Amino acid sequence: MKVLGIESSCDETGVALYDTERGLLGHRVHSQIDLHAAYGGVVPELASRDHIRRLPLLVRETLADAGCALGELDALAYTAGPGLAGALLVGAGMAEALAMALGVPALPVHHLEGHLLSPLLAADPPAFPFVALLVSGGHTQLMRVSGVGEYELLGESLDDAAGEAFDKTAKLLGLGYPGGPQLARLAEQGTTGRFRLPRPMLNSGDLDFSFSGLKTAVLNVVSAPGWHAVDAVDLAADFQQAVVEVLVRKALAALRRTGLRHLVVAGGVGANRQLRAQLDEAARRRGWRVYYPEPELCTDNGAMIAFAGALRLAAGERVAGDGEIRIRPRW
Ligand code: KG4
Ligand code: ZN
Repeated sequence: MKVLGIESSCDETGVALYDTERGLLGHRVHSQIDLHAAYGGVVPELASRDHIRRLPLLVRETLADAGCALGELDALAYTAGPGLAGALLVGAGMAEALAMALGVPALPVHHLEGHLLSPLLAADPPAFPFVALLVSGGHTQLMRVSGVGEYELLGESLDDAAGEAFDKTAKLLGLGYPGGPQLARLAEQGTTGRFRLPRPMLNSGDLDFSFSGLKTAVLNVVSAPGWHAVDAVDLAADFQQAVVEVLVRKALAALRRTGLRHLVVAGGVGANRQLRAQLDEAARRRGWRVYYPEPELCTDNGAMIAFAGALRLAAGERVAGDGEIRIRPRW
């Protein structure tokens, strides 16, 4: 079965074709980073308009890459939420319209389910059940994943998501948008240990997180007298270390608690090199294993949506391509 996946929940337009027999046949992403950079963050109306501009061409190019005609599609899958309402509408509208014209199903997919299942697209995928650490700009969650659609929330952030903390702290340090990756790059050049930052909820005894206090601690450092901008590299390194330490400790606690040995890391922050290095090291010592999506599938993309849609279709889910646009911005 061939499923065309469309992602347009935020500032990336992603389209991909997944074939249940042959795997990923085509996969294209257009990033709107340049468009929003001047504003220091995503401007929802500009995002929607750019999705409208890019999507038809991306669909055509992805089908051409895959050597697949529109009429060969067995289903469409699209991100139905969570995300920006206007942006979601663009992808949902395109997918539902194509599905109605072709007489095939259109499957609304939860954006986080896409991220969660994306490591299964790797060459050496994990088997169910596993623990998933989902770390994106909007969410920080630990989940027990027993199968497609079988997710048990073990813990989550009570305030800012890890990616959000990276982005907000980057702004405090005067870095451009998108802040997370820039902050991580700066941190690579710094030395940890100069600034005493908190490790929020490290010993809370549960699997929940809190990151907003960490951002405030950084604000206190940079607004104190005697702060020198040249110290930003070391502050970045200490901030990154604080986030990574909490994520690693809680992920390990989730593995212990569930008795599982496989951890899947998904979402944009999963691209962080320190997080990967420290998770790998901690897991290796215990004989556990950590799985990541392919680097290009860590951030938002259509492949994870096509894949999640294909798995749902294979599991028997049927949604009529009736033209009804099913978006859930706060899903
Ligand atoms: O999953 P994603 O692409 O979009 C959401 O669904 O949110 O994640 C984006 C988030 C942003 O907050 C971004 O700053 C963060 O992931 N991010 C990183 C890194 N790369 C992306 N945070 C820390 N280190 C990175 N290398
Ligand atoms: Zn995402």
